[in-house]
Amino acid sequence: MVILGIETSCDETAAAMVEETGDAARPWRVLSNVVASQVDIHREWGGVVPELSARQHIRDICGVVEKAVEDAGSPRYDAIAVTQGPGLVGSLLVGLSFAKALAWARGVPLVPVHHLAGHVESLVLGGGEMPLPAVVLVVSGGHTSLYLEPRAGVFERLGRTRDDAAGEAYDKVAKLLGLGYPGGPVIDRLANQGNDRGVPLPRTRLTHADRNAPHLPGRSDFSFSGLKTAVVRHLQRRRTLLGLGADEPLPPADVVDLSASFQRVVVEILLDRLFDDARAHGAQSVGIAGGVSANSRLREDATTRGAAEGLPVFIPPLALSTDNAAMIAAAGLRAFRAGRVAEESLNADASLPMEAA
Ligand code: KG4
Ligand code: ZN
Repeated sequence: MVILGIETSCDETAAAMVEETGDAARPWRVLSNVVASQVDIHREWGGVVPELSARQHIRDICGVVEKAVEDAGSPRYDAIAVTQGPGLVGSLLVGLSFAKALAWARGVPLVPVHHLAGHVESLVLGGGEMPLPAVVLVVSGGHTSLYLEPRAGVFERLGRTRDDAAGEAYDKVAKLLGLGYPGGPVIDRLANQGNDRGVPLPRTRLTHADRNAPHLPGRSDFSFSGLKTAVVRHLQRRRTLLGLGADEPLPPADVVDLSASFQRVVVEILLDRLFDDARAHGAQSVGIAGGVSANSRLREDATTRGAAEGLPVFIPPLALSTDNAAMIAAAGLRAFRAGRVAEESLNADASLPMEAA
């Protein structure tokens, strides 16, 4: 069976063809994977502008789907998978309407996919089926959540961010430093040149676990807004000390040390929660998916900690860590095999809960 996947939840228009292999350990093979990124359009505004995103999806979707079908070698597909949510509603609607029309015209079933279930499936595309139960961290520009996956494709949320997502924190700190959008890749690169203890930054103390009451719910929640405020305050102090105006750039040594220190703290916060929860739930493996999983320190430190704790760590290949449709197609195949097919009334849902997927 071959499935065509379509993803338009944020600022990439993506389509991919994925085939079942028949191998239980590595169930999917990617036949094609096409992504048209809108980053250059949104960079000018310092972040994603929803209306511009929706309009660009309309321009790009036909070409992107055609290319994905062409690249696959054979134009035949047996079903279509599409991201139903969460995401920007105008953007989601472009992919969803397109997929609905195409499924109807071709007489093939349509399978709705949760965007984060797609990110989790990128781990299977990269490393094969995960030993279960698994604890998975989904960390992107819009999400920072921890899930327990007791059975393949079933998710129970263990924690989520109470304010900014980790990727959003990267983007905001990069903006404060005048480094442009998106901030993650730039800070990641600069961090490797700086002293990661150069700037003292706080580890968020907010959960019940931090208050010695780990039995209370919400102990795995995240918060990144305090860290961002600490960065703002630090920058103000340095500017005053150096006699710099609000718009003047800081010396490169300041920028690399702040990048390295910020990155160390973010990675520690993420990995502490992930490995604590893995231990608490007797996980057989852990995974890290979403755009921030491209981060070099997060990948390295996760691998080191996994080896120390004897836990296999699943991280997607770089090409599948940011938004793409191969992960949506693969998650769609899994959902289809579990009996999931869309009703004709299927609608986009900007805040679709993972548990409903
Ligand atoms: O999953 P994604 O492509 O889109 C969303 O669903 O949000 O993630 C994009 C996010 C952005 O915030 C970007 O700054 C972050 O992922 N990102 C990174 C890195 N590469 C991308 N963050 C840290 N380090 C990176 N290397
Ligand atoms: Zn995403």
